[in-house]
Amino acid sequence: MSEVLAPGLTRLADGPLAFGGVGLEELAEAYGTPLVAFDGALFDGRVAAFRTAFGPQTDISYAAKAFLCVAMARRVAALGLSLDVCSLGELRTAQAADFPPERLRYHGCGKGDDELEAALRGGVGRIIIDNLEELERLESIAAHLERTATVILRVNTGIEAHTHEMIRTAGENSKFGMLPEVAFAAARRVAASPHMRIAGLHSHIGSQIYEPRFLADAVEPLFELAASLSGVEIAVAEMIAGGGFAVRYRPEDPPAPAPEAIAQRLLAAMRLGAERAGVPLPRLGIEPGRALAAEAGLSLYRVMSVKDHATCRFAIVDGSMADNPRPALYGSYHHVVRADGPSTAVARATTICGRSCEADEMMTVPLPEDLHGGDLLAVCTTGAYTYSMASNYNRFAKPAVVLAADGAHTLWVRRERDSETLRFDVDT
Ligand code: LLP
Repeated sequence: MSEVLAPGLTRLADGPLAFGGVGLEELAEAYGTPLVAFDGALFDGRVAAFRTAFGPQTDISYAAKAFLCVAMARRVAALGLSLDVCSLGELRTAQAADFPPERLRYHGCGKGDDELEAALRGGVGRIIIDNLEELERLESIAAHLERTATVILRVNTGIEAHTHEMIRTAGENSKFGMLPEVAFAAARRVAASPHMRIAGLHSHIGSQIYEPRFLADAVEPLFELAASLSGVEIAVAEMIAGGGFAVRYRPEDPPAPAPEAIAQRLLAAMRLGAERAGVPLPRLGIEPGRALAAEAGLSLYRVMSVKDHATCRFAIVDGSMADNPRPALYGSYHHVVRADGPSTAVARATTICGRSCEADEMMTVPLPEDLHGGDLLAVCTTGAYTYSMASNYNRFAKPAVVLAADGAHTLWVRRERDSETLRFDVDT
């Protein structure tokens, strides 16, 4: 069988696969399956690549929604990144990690008063405002707390990213952000308030974007707005161009754009935009999640059974759409390889299915003919939006997350106990 290895996967001297230098069987035996393994060095490498490409003037903020736990927040803090959070849970996680509050950015298109208050009390560096009503609530909470809120206005630039419609976040019919004329009014409101200060403008057009030019296109309307604001003496010091940078999920897909290619486009669009608008060059911010975390993660599953039905061969694994809903939600593909040594068996198209009470077929991949119950499978590129989107469907407990790096492993998040799936039930 010709072998395609995913990022971070290597072969141990005697044949079996390793991730972060640790044998996959060793990880599965130590922590059980399903398991999410995270290779810290891969994550750090991606951060370094973005840093080098964008240079020290760009603020890189990791989008916590891709994957966050306390240990991860500590890692992000140590790397000197900023951190985007969008819920009280993500904020509390960052706070538990002693994440420097001035490097936190609070996102979300439906922030409650409790969240705005927690962000202000917690000294969160930037609050990204989605709509006028939210802005009004923030102003009165800031006034009540006698604090000054530093805000960035999220603009719906109308630029549609060519990506799956479920992960598109701009376009004239997208719910996110404010249309430019509304953002203009919002900026004036901020400028007039003693309790708020405007830091800049924000746009995020979607996720898994293969074409950097779409990201660059989205900067143009921000500069048009910056020019109008400059006309009323409002300066835009920061411009966040969002995240959304693609990663490769299928080995046969073209490589995702390199950080240098994205940086070149975006930095050029920034220079040109500022020049045309006649405004000083704002500081660029980017907020990647997937591009930093996806390839750094891998999920391990045991095969429960293999069956041949009509024209399909199914492998049922001990995970499900509860621990990885991406295939069910977006038809996403994750490459799958068997964890043992190189196989001489012929590869056959095999549909990986979860064990939930649904037709939760995940993806069809070539796997050796002799695949059987008990084999260990590695599902690749699951570092982003997999553990973070896990649910307790069927009352399955959530998997553990382990750091594998330099041949050693450390537990980051312990496996949920079956008994804990009852923890919110009230004994009536
Ligand atoms: N900034 C904002 C405002 C966002 O909403 C997101 C992602 C990001 C940054 C980071 O985007 P990234 O660089 O990770 O593409 N669950 C979907 C992805 C949803 C993305 C939501 N927003 C998936 O599994 O593909």
